[in-house]
Amino acid sequence: MLNIAIIGAGRIGHVHARTVAAHPQARLALVCDPFGDAAESLAAEYGARSCKEAEEVFNDPEIDAVIVGSPTPLHIPHLLAAAKAGKAVLCEKPIALDITDVEAAKDELDAITTPVMFGFNRRFDPSFAAVREAVAAGRIGELEQLTIISRDPAAPPVDYVKVSGGIFRDMTIHDFDTARFFLGDIVEVHAVGQNLDEAIKETGDFDAAVVTLRAASGAVATIVNNRHCASGYDQRLEASGRDGALFAENVRATTVRLSNAEVTDAQEPYLDFFLERYADAYRIELSAFIEAVEKGTPTPTTIADAVAALRIAEAATESARTGTVIRLG
Ligand SMILES: NC(=O)c1ccc[n+]([C@@H]2O[C@H](COP(=O)([O-])OP(=O)(O)OC[C@H]3O[C@@H](n4cnc5c(N)ncnc54)[C@H](O)[C@@H]3O)[C@@H](O)[C@H]2O)c1
Repeated sequence: MLNIAIIGAGRIGHVHARTVAAHPQARLALVCDPFGDAAESLAAEYGARSCKEAEEVFNDPEIDAVIVGSPTPLHIPHLLAAAKAGKAVLCEKPIALDITDVEAAKDELDAITTPVMFGFNRRFDPSFAAVREAVAAGRIGELEQLTIISRDPAAPPVDYVKVSGGIFRDMTIHDFDTARFFLGDIVEVHAVGQNLDEAIKETGDFDAAVVTLRAASGAVATIVNNRHCASGYDQRLEASGRDGALFAENVRATTVRLSNAEVTDAQEPYLDFFLERYADAYRIELSAFIEAVEKGTPTPTTIADAVAALRIAEAATESARTGTVIRLG
């Protein structure tokens, strides 16, 4: 049984609190958030303690592991402090807003000896993971092209967008990690940004994008992102190989189809947004973290994965701004 503290009682803090509370090998012990009654009210939902200062989490001997769900600029400070206090860490993506912050902390990050995992939850989605396993088993021959579609039902508040680091660091970072999960090292990045939302345009960010990535193997990934999608949370993946293709489709609450005089094969909407669509992925991610901590085995996602995804995000940001292809490595 792992006693877990969550730092940051916002959107993702709520997702993790629910997942930890429901997990048979985990106990939600403490929730930390300095603002308002965010920590207190989330902790109260699950019978946990609450605090306002992250120091209290690091100094608490009861806490075995910390989930860092604070705003991105605090990820490195919280991750380092937790690790120095001997806690295992599951840290949300991205590792930082700027690669220079990672470079400044390189020695301290390299010196970490406690288990550290990053919240690239899509690796743990049962359908995406099954596609990858089928690719690895040779079911479609050599993987040539990967297509990832990720569209959100609605854009986050503009105040969130302003501090998010931009679409590539905040949103596409999941897809960059998925591309690496399938294809390994990425050597070339070409991104085209779109401004379809006036309010987001005013922040200087894009709200939609298409990115192509070339892997060292020669395989190519295409990522299609949009902060808005009229038909809901559109999350799909296609792997195409020499001998076939694999498709992971959108998920619905049931498989019921309606046909009548107006429609044929009408189905329920897609599961809405990340809590619902990736509920299984967050649960399996947490199980993988607990297993690595308890058995002392390597975590399935690492600081190196987080840094690699951030480097691709920075290259995509530069590519979209300059219209050039960026080579990595
Ligand atoms: N893996 C995923 O699916 C996923 C989904 C959403 C967000 N995220 C990531 O999680 C992080 C948080 O995003 P969010 O959408 O939950 O944001 P949010 O703004 O909803 O929540 C952040 C919370 O952190 C709190 N906070 C601020 N300063 C703090 C401090 N010093 N100590 C502790 N808590 C502090 C805020 O009060 C807020 O409650 C971001 O890095 C984001 O990229 C990941």
